[in-house]
Amino acid sequence: MPGLIPENLLEDILSRVDIVEVISGYIPLKKSGRNFKANCPFHHEKTASFMVSAERQIYHCFGCGESGNAFKFLMRHERMEFPEAVEVLAKKTGVILPEQNKPEAARAASLSSQLHKVNELAVSFYENNLHVPGAASACNYLLSRGIKLQTIKEFHLGLATSNWDSLINCLRSKNVPLSLMEQAGLVLPKDAGGFYDRFRNRIIFPIFDIRSRVIGFGARVMDNTLPKYINSPETPIYTKGRNLFGLNLSKDFIRDADCAIIVEGYLDFMVPYQEGVKNIVASQGTALTLEQIKLLKRYTHNVVMIYDGDTAGEIATLRSLDILIEEGVNVKVVPLPKGMDPDSLVRNQGVENFKAKIDNASSLFDYKLNILKGRYDMKDAHGKSKIASEMLLTINKFDNAILRGEYIKKLAEEIKTSEHYVLEELHKLKSPVPARQAAPEISARNKPQINPAEKLLIKFMLEEKELIAKVMQELSPSDFQDSRTAKIVSLMHDLVIQGKNIEPSVLMNYFSEDDANQLVCETMFMPDLLDQEKEKAINDCIARIKVERLKSRRQHLHVQIKNAQSSGDELKLNRLIQEFHNLIKKGD
Ligand code: CTP
Ligand code: MN
Repeated sequence: MPGLIPENLLEDILSRVDIVEVISGYIPLKKSGRNFKANCPFHHEKTASFMVSAERQIYHCFGCGESGNAFKFLMRHERMEFPEAVEVLAKKTGVILPEQNKPEAARAASLSSQLHKVNELAVSFYENNLHVPGAASACNYLLSRGIKLQTIKEFHLGLATSNWDSLINCLRSKNVPLSLMEQAGLVLPKDAGGFYDRFRNRIIFPIFDIRSRVIGFGARVMDNTLPKYINSPETPIYTKGRNLFGLNLSKDFIRDADCAIIVEGYLDFMVPYQEGVKNIVASQGTALTLEQIKLLKRYTHNVVMIYDGDTAGEIATLRSLDILIEEGVNVKVVPLPKGMDPDSLVRNQGVENFKAKIDNASSLFDYKLNILKGRYDMKDAHGKSKIASEMLLTINKFDNAILRGEYIKKLAEEIKTSEHYVLEELHKLKSPVPARQAAPEISARNKPQINPAEKLLIKFMLEEKELIAKVMQELSPSDFQDSRTAKIVSLMHDLVIQGKNIEPSVLMNYFSEDDANQLVCETMFMPDLLDQEKEKAINDCIARIKVERLKSRRQHLHVQIKNAQSSGDELKLNRLIQEFHNLIKKGD
């Protein structure tokens, strides 16, 4: 990674940045001894195993192994490319990237930022289309849907005309390569060769990410032809299920209100938002995904779901409930009458009515039970058992035993049975196994165990630069049996010889693979030893690594001896046997 941007600048940025501040901009960190702790943003977990060290400027998750420095955090969490993460933190820390780096940095500008730029050009193009005299009917369509002119502008709504190549021509005139337009999902290849505009004769809804970059588009017909909406396909910067429509505008309101209202559609977002309900997001049609929930959890742990009053909305709500509960989010639901959605509710009954419905939202228990009562016959024993087993699936998702107990009591009352039977059914369900427990086991099984002596010695060397030369008098990097530890030792050794910094957060700029990084971070969070214990521990580690080295040399010789025997090479055999005896005698 270094090479493109000078190492000393990377170090400069890392020495000025505060990783605790960077990370706590995304997830809440809690002080824990010398470090900070949080629920890991990179995997599903209920107990915090994600650690951040202010002292070392690194993070490490003991659950999933994800680890790194401030650059890496932005790359992973914000899906930035390395140059982009450097740029963001350079700006934050006031480090100036020299001019001579600019052309190169521009060339290296990630595909993502090029796609953002193409999308931006497309937004302006579509927006312009809507504000010309010929677009009166499109404007009228939006006005007839209750969207005010100011809202049209705020959301950068636009129009794709019925031409097959007007966007292509516009982008071409701005020297955008066709391949980039295609990767952005804006154009499609023709069978006969050439390309055509994906969106035609539709209102355009640009989709922004939380940093207000355009990542994709939704496009709606203005009559009732089908399909009603088409959206950008998956692109390197857009995955529908990873994004919440409108969050870029509403995130601060959500944080302030400590509550998010979740609706399905673009218009279900825009109409209430325009009328003053600002703490709102749209899932864009489907049930909430885990990624969407994680995104939302950066701002609040309380949500009110208001999905369309139809079967699809009901199913999507029920599916979302379980993931929300698993993620520890408090959830309430507003059921809507058949055929109604938040957009039509606000327009037909007024925003005050909408707000009142939110204030009186049902608990998820009542909501689900109500739906089940409509599906099964409560008076019938089989119906009761169906209702109980479906309710229990959700109740079982609660991590908190007291909450589970309360709901079980309530369920028993509702279906008029003994709590004892309900509990018996609950026990039949497997106890909830959080996903976090599965992940590390799998990864641990796939990777060979590292000799603890190697790990510990690396920790000591990272903490005390002077130790590296001392250790290297006794051992060489290849004496470390694990490829990861060997790689780290060899790099530290090289850097020390060159008089360079080996701070853990800097060291990881040199590794392109994750496993060495992970190990560096993991060792930094291992418990510290007292000074008086340390020297003995270091000597023990060196001694143990030597024993392993001896073992592996012996094994190697053993194989060579066997080969010499089978090939009948007497001379070689004698030499090898002599070597073997020496090795045993020396014990080194
Ligand atoms: N959606 C989609 N593709 C479709 C249908 C729906 O992406 N073919 C998404 C859109 O984000 C849409 C949301 O699902 O806004 C909800 O769909 P629906 O309720 O059908 O549309 P509305 O948002 O109510 O749109 P409108 O009021 O304009 O009919
Ligand atoms: Mn609608």
